[in-house]
This record gives sequence, C-alpha cells and structure tokens, in this order.
Amino acid sequence: MTYVVITFVVLFILNIYCSQTCRTIFNQSKQISMIEKCELTADTISSLDVINSSTVSTALTQMESLKVTRLIVTDRNAVALYDSANIAKGNYVLFPEIMTAIDGNKVFICSYQDGTMVSHAAMPILFYDTMIGCVYMTDYDSAQGALIHSLQKNVLQITLILQIIVTIFSIAFSQTFSRRLKEIMSSMRIIQNGDFSHKLSMSGNDELTILANEFNDLTERLQTSEQKRRRFVSDASHELKTPLASIKLLTDSILQNDMDMETTREFVGDIGNEAERLNRMTAKLLSLTKVDSQETPDAEIIYMAPTVNRVCRMLKPMARQENISIHLNLEHDCPVLILEDDLYQIVFNLMENGIKYNPPGGTLYVTLGRQDDLATLTVKDSGVGIPEDAIPHIFERFYRVDKARSRASGGSGLGLAIVRAIILRNRGEITVSSQMGEGTTFTVTFPAFDTEVDKE
Ligand SMILES: Nc1ncnc2c1ncn2[C@@H]1O[C@H](COP(=O)(O)OP(=O)(O)OP(=O)(O)O)[C@@H](O)[C@H]1O
Ligand SMILES: [Mg+2]
Repeated sequence: MTYVVITFVVLFILNIYCSQTCRTIFNQSKQISMIEKCELTADTISSLDVINSSTVSTALTQMESLKVTRLIVTDRNAVALYDSANIAKGNYVLFPEIMTAIDGNKVFICSYQDGTMVSHAAMPILFYDTMIGCVYMTDYDSAQGALIHSLQKNVLQITLILQIIVTIFSIAFSQTFSRRLKEIMSSMRIIQNGDFSHKLSMSGNDELTILANEFNDLTERLQTSEQKRRRFVSDASHELKTPLASIKLLTDSILQNDMDMETTREFVGDIGNEAERLNRMTAKLLSLTKVDSQETPDAEIIYMAPTVNRVCRMLKPMARQENISIHLNLEHDCPVLILEDDLYQIVFNLMENGIKYNPPGGTLYVTLGRQDDLATLTVKDSGVGIPEDAIPHIFERFYRVDKARSRASGGSGLGLAIVRAIILRNRGEITVSSQMGEGTTFTVTFPAFDTEVDKE
C-alpha cells in the first residue's frame, strides 16, 4: 500500500511539473513573438514624419498583417490614434498595460480563459529616446489553448494509466508475497509442532526461495539430530533395562526359592556383576555426553608414549587372565596437542577391545610412530576380526557385532563411539582394517605438535 501512495505522489508531482513546463514554454514563445510584433509596429510609427490618426492608419494598413486580435496605437497621453477594432479611436484608453507602457516599460501578460490563450503586450514608441506614444496588442489564441489543454489531458491520462498499472502490480505482488510468507509461517508452525519431515516447496529464485531452501536445510538438520536423539534415548534405556531386569530376576529367585547358601551367594555375585555393568555403562554415557558438550577442550602438549605405558600397566592383569601377550614398540618423540585424559580413553578403549575380542593365547601389538607432521598410534590384535558389513557401524553408539558375546564380556558398545568423538574433537583421524579370524588393526593419527615452531 505504501508503494501505491508513494507512486501516486510522485506521478502527481510529475504531472504538475509537466503541465507547468508546457505552459512556460508556450508563454515564452508567445511573449517573444508579441514583443517582436510590438517592436515592428513601434519602429514603423516612429519613422513617420507626422504622427496622427490618418498617418498611423495608412502606415499600419501598408504593413504586413500582424495576425493579432486587436491592435491599438495611442499618443503619449493615451489617446487612441488607431484601433483595429474601431472602438476606442479618439478616446483615452486607460488599460493598465498601456499605462505601464506610457511610463516607459515593456509589458507582456498571458492567461488562459476557457481553453483560450489570452495575451496582452504593450510598449512605448520612442523617437530619439523621447516617448511619443504606445503600441498595445491583444491576442486570443484558441489553437495554442487547445494544444496546451490536450497536452495536459494526455499527461493526465498517462499518469492515470501508470497509476492503475502500478496499483495492479502492487496488489498482485503484495498478494503473492504475503501468500508465500504465509506458507513459510505455516511451515514453521508445523515444524514447531514436531513434524521435522515437513518440506517447504517454493519456486522462483528470489530472496524468499533462498529463505525457503535455508529453512529446509535447517529442518533436515533438526530432523537428523532429533532422530539421533530418539535413537540414543531408546538405545540407552534398552541397554540400562537389561541389567536391571537381570537384577530383578535374580532377586526374585532369591526371595521365592528356598535356596541353599552356595546358590544364593552365586546369585548375589551375579547381582553385583550386573550392578558393576550398570555402573560402567553410566560412566561411559556420562563421558560421552561430556565429549559431546565440550566443544574445544583446553588441550595440552603431551608425549604419547607415557600414556600408552600407563594404559598397558592397567590392562596387564586382564591380558594375563586372558593369556594375551602385549608387545609395545613406542617412539618417544611423539608430542600431540590433546588432554591427557582424552588420550588415555582412546588408548584404553582400543587396547581393551584388542584383549577382549582376542582368543586366549593371542597377541596385541601397540606401535607409536611419527611420519612427517603426523603422530600415528596403531593397535593391532590377532583376534576374531570384524565382518566387512559391520565395519561402518562399529563407531555408532551401542553397536556390537556379536551382541551376546560382547554383552557377556560386559561391553556396552560405547567404547569406540567415545574414541571417535574424542579423536574428531582433537582434529585427528581413525581408520580400521580387519580380516575375519586373523585380527583387526586400528590406526589413529594426530597432527604432531612440534613444540617450538607450532607454539608460535
Ligand atoms: N579389536 C576388535 N576385534 C573385533 N571386534 C571388535 C574389536 N573392537 C571392537 N569390535 C567390535 O565392535 C563393537 C563395538 O566396540 P566398542 O568398543 O564400541 O563396544 P564394546 O567393546 O562392546 O563395549 P564397551 O567398549 O563400551 O565396553 C564391539 O562390540 C565388537 O563387536
Ligand atoms: Mg570396547
């Protein structure tokens, strides 16, 4: 609506300006021609030897036609010596224009009356700088008046047509705009109500289409994260439910049956194991949320070898129990920018898996090396291996290849998810290669932090 008002005002001003300019141009040209005619007449009369009615009449009839409506010539007292209309001859003619001319000035006045251009011009007749009379002309030019009138009419018509076109376009544009805006708003409401699968389809390539595309991208991301969140919640509750259900079963059995002491002890031991499993799982879930929420950790430069040694010491009893031999080959000059706790978790989870998914008598090789700008940690076992189709999933939360087996060994399927999250957060990479029945190799690389140069 504002556009319509603005264009209306602009067109209105243009209209007035055009009409005024036309009038001014016509007036100026009329003024030039009337003054020229007055000068011609004044020159003719001032060249006469004697100035009276008859000499002036004779001189003027001999002149070429001036094409004016009325011509009056007066003497210096404003008494008409000649009047083309034959009304005022011999009388005083006290028109204001004539009075001004007798005072020694040139006069031109122009006005429009009923579509006719009416112009008056007067000027003194001088004879060697002496005022001897005055010439007065008046002209009724209906042709000019009609021309100006039709010009004004045309400009007005064009203005009106333009205004109508602008109004129609403005209404059409604002309606389309508000319809598309309403579409976006209603889509937003749908998304607000939780339907993230909703897509906004908008054709064209203006700003609104760009907005709609951005909106679709956003909802797509929302949908993905919502799906992930739901899956995580359902997986987590499922995983937590299992040990709880076992505990419930075991306690029910103890309470209902008249058990001997030995079996009761066994059942209580199982309850303890399940509780321990719950404990481990919640600890891992907590550490996963911590990794997810903390964007940039306050990392420190640490050498990797001591951490690997520390993990090895921790896992030695477990390896001994499973009869797995651990072989370390560690290059000591491997500084990386990471939190010590983070590195510990990575090494621990990978080595723990290497022991857990390894048959008794197996081996686990851990190597630490440095190539150019990369520090590389390799954890290689001689274990069961991972099927090819499972490899893309092993870093997902709660994913286990052999559910029964890894649950029995206390696995929750969170270890590798934590490992990957930490590695990505620290600008590292992890790859895995595996051969069924022969073993698995995990390779982790980090940008090596060359103390002096990199610190700058
Ligand atoms: N070195 C490996 N050899 C064979 N399979 C492996 C190995 N590492 C991981 N896997 C498979 O990948 C799955 C996911 O490993 P992840 O470490 O995430 O979970 P988990 O070991 O089962 O439990 P958690 O580590 O949380 O105690 C495992 O269940 C196992 O099936
Ligand atoms: Mg694990």
